Amino acid sequence: MNIALIGSGGREHALCQKIFESKLSNNIICIPGNAGTAKIATNIDINFLDFQTLLKTVKFYKIDLVVVGPEEPLVRGIVDFLIRHKIKVFGPNKFAAKLEGSKAFMKDICKKNNIPTARYKICKNIKDVKNFIKKSKFPLVVKADGLAAGKGVTICKTEKKILDVSDKIFKGKFKSSNKLVLEEFLKGEEASYFLIVDKNKFRFFGSAQDHKRVGEGDVGPNTGGMGAYSPAPLINRKLEKKIINRIVKPTLGALKRKKKQYTGFLYVGLMIKNNEPYLIEYNVRMGDPECQVIIPKLKTDILKIFYNVVENKLNQTTIRWKNTKCMTVVLCSKGYPNKYIKNKTIYNLENIKLNKNSFVYHAGTKFIGDNLVSNGGRVLNITSSGSNFKKIRNNIFKIIKKINWRYGYFRKDIGWRVI
Ligand code: AMP
Ligand code: GLY
Repeated sequence: MNIALIGSGGREHALCQKIFESKLSNNIICIPGNAGTAKIATNIDINFLDFQTLLKTVKFYKIDLVVVGPEEPLVRGIVDFLIRHKIKVFGPNKFAAKLEGSKAFMKDICKKNNIPTARYKICKNIKDVKNFIKKSKFPLVVKADGLAAGKGVTICKTEKKILDVSDKIFKGKFKSSNKLVLEEFLKGEEASYFLIVDKNKFRFFGSAQDHKRVGEGDVGPNTGGMGAYSPAPLINRKLEKKIINRIVKPTLGALKRKKKQYTGFLYVGLMIKNNEPYLIEYNVRMGDPECQVIIPKLKTDILKIFYNVVENKLNQTTIRWKNTKCMTVVLCSKGYPNKYIKNKTIYNLENIKLNKNSFVYHAGTKFIGDNLVSNGGRVLNITSSGSNFKKIRNNIFKIIKKINWRYGYFRKDIGWRVI
């Protein structure tokens, strides 16, 4: 099969590597890809949100299957568009993608189906916000309704802060949102649970915990994720049953009743309190960097899985996993998630000899000539597997030490809960 993979992060390099290893893969194009994918696929630098140009490219390269990494094209309807043009594509349709694209939509599904989640109010103006504040205790969480590149959620401890943040959203801070969700703060431990879904069936696709804050000890501003590990030890059999029966099945059932069945990866973002799961968010894709710790454990041919999902034959597919633990540490540009410099050469990465349990996934990287340079906030994902998280992390540190890049920063406490 010829494959087009959309996206340019560490998640896409991990997917690309697995697709490259598949017995079923022929040519792979990445749109736009990064320096890591450039070594195993052809990077095509077009804007994937320009669907007409994308379609032309897909036809030109005789693509058999398009795999979509990030949320934005999904929320904008890339799947519906490609299917209309008879192109096979892995990912959810535009309606189902609202699970991530609109927090109000997701919350309404929770309410109608009794799915455990934080008590909330969809607010269209400041009056709505003030009414909810009257009935609630602080802290409260303000969430822009639409996609906000990870910057749409603010935990507020005072009324003033809530009103400030809300006002900015109503005034158009995020183009995607003219309303917001105001909700109760849930105390507990976060975990992410992943599924792969077709029209008839869903299957487990790993669990993970990530570290969203930039600083050690989980402090400082939110990022896309500074590191992750899998499995999430928090998720035991009993809890998994609750997640499936109380959260996943009611959600997929609600979409099915609307004849808008979900297909693709589904990322269930949870808060676990006293062994009870509460839904914080849905993402309609794999996580980044969670994907980088789940994909290395996959034994079954990934293209066989994708193809069977697209054909709605997931019930005939067994997904097998290696019985190992996996961790990734993100090496980012100093200053991220605020201002940082790009285009700084990363030395020596190419010379490092990795054992079969380790991998460096690229994210914000590109080649200028033969020179590997940084090209974004999150730059490399140093990933390793094994049976003991502490040993795995030490192995990761050894690899990072060999990379010669003065402009990088990484957290040394990834996985502190399990180490
Ligand atoms: P989201 O964009 O919905 O994933 O939110 C980003 C992060 O904010 C989550 O990963 C949580 O750490 C935190 N968060 C969101 N909603 C809540 C909530 N109701 N209670 C506590 N923390 C929350
Ligand atoms: N690592 C969080 C996310 O992918 O949304």
